[in-house]
Amino acid sequence: MSLMNEIHYESRRQKLLSSVEEGVIILTSASPQTRSNDTEYPYRQNSNFYYMCGFKEDNALLVLVKSKEFSKSILFVEPYNEEHALWNGSRLGVEKALASYNVDEVYDIHTYSLLIKEILRDHIALYIDLFDDSLWILQAKKCAKELHETRGVKRHIRTIYDVTHLIRTLRLIKSHEEILEIKKAIELTAKAHHKAMQISKAGMHEYELQAHMSYVFQSNGAQAESYEAIVAGGNNANTLHYINNRDVLRDGDLVLIDAACEWELYASDITRTFPVNGKFSEAQREVYEKVLDVQLRVIEAMKPGVKRDWLQHYSEELLCQVLIDLGILSGDCKILMESKAHKKYAPHGIGHWMGLDVHDPCPYVDDEGESLSFVSGMVMTIEPGIYIRADDETVDEKYRGIGIRIEDDILITEMGYENLSTAIVKSVAEIEAMCRSYVL
Ligand code: GLY
Ligand code: MN
Ligand code: MN
Repeated sequence: MSLMNEIHYESRRQKLLSSVEEGVIILTSASPQTRSNDTEYPYRQNSNFYYMCGFKEDNALLVLVKSKEFSKSILFVEPYNEEHALWNGSRLGVEKALASYNVDEVYDIHTYSLLIKEILRDHIALYIDLFDDSLWILQAKKCAKELHETRGVKRHIRTIYDVTHLIRTLRLIKSHEEILEIKKAIELTAKAHHKAMQISKAGMHEYELQAHMSYVFQSNGAQAESYEAIVAGGNNANTLHYINNRDVLRDGDLVLIDAACEWELYASDITRTFPVNGKFSEAQREVYEKVLDVQLRVIEAMKPGVKRDWLQHYSEELLCQVLIDLGILSGDCKILMESKAHKKYAPHGIGHWMGLDVHDPCPYVDDEGESLSFVSGMVMTIEPGIYIRADDETVDEKYRGIGIRIEDDILITEMGYENLSTAIVKSVAEIEAMCRSYVL
């Protein structure tokens, strides 16, 4: 059950409408996606649509209208249908949607093409997702054109704006309830990572660890995983988006697991790297502790006012210094960074916004292109990594094949930050103890 109620959605709609002078906003639900003939992927609502109304069914639209005199919100939904109820389950329908969702009007989606023309009449601005090529948006544009050609209509749509940027900006700052949903997702993700550490042993397959984690997610009620799990033994960790997960886990290797679940559509995003056999080798421990030190230092620097670009630069400096300390790079850190030499071993960014989407598409820069400063309520992952391929003969043999990433989810607070995922073991001693605490 979502912690968000109608008051939350209503206040988000008010905020959105207050950033608009006048016009009509149209938000569309996600379309179901075919997996293969007659089978579909599990349905996942469009995050922006969900953020503004909380409605989870497909084939639905939210239309917000603002004029000088009034503003109103209209939901279009699929009506209750016996045939659909028999095959796919019951829909809420028009009357129940009106009773349950605090919008001004609810209509049958099949009346949209008739009603949208009247809704657009006399408005001068249309707000849509510019990349939404659904038939609903085409229909609205067609109606706008017809209104242009109709005698007696005094004002016409003359500007189309991107509404996604406005919503994504609202989504940057998470409310207390949103943080609680993220914390719930992390709580289950913590259990799953601990389970993987406890059961891991040489000879298992990567997919077995993945299956045990999925069991934890699903048996605790998580509706989905935030992304395809990465369970990468040994050198596979050096493929950043490794999702094959078919290999055997080998004695003496590390395994990097980047896996996490959603709760009420809110993501978590966690990576831990640990020894398959429960004990770090000396070289693995050396690299691991250096990556961990970078992660802790970067997190420690997070507070309101700090710019995300500065944090990125700071993390790159720290990682470059680690590569020098390990003897993997040699020379002056500043010069190495200018030539981007460190990118060979630390190629990805330090983190990203997280919320309704695991990579929350909120802005990173302001309208002038300047990096945004952190503000209390923002959530960002911090995930430094060092990746040394097994075939890299320029590196001391003892480090080859090691790939390490450590990822936590951080909330910016008034005073600084809160690491939302501290419950997931992270130090060498904690990880080795967790690996030893085998449970059935
Ligand atoms: N799991 C995706 C990421 O870490 O960005
Ligand atoms: Mn991430
Ligand atoms: Mn991740």
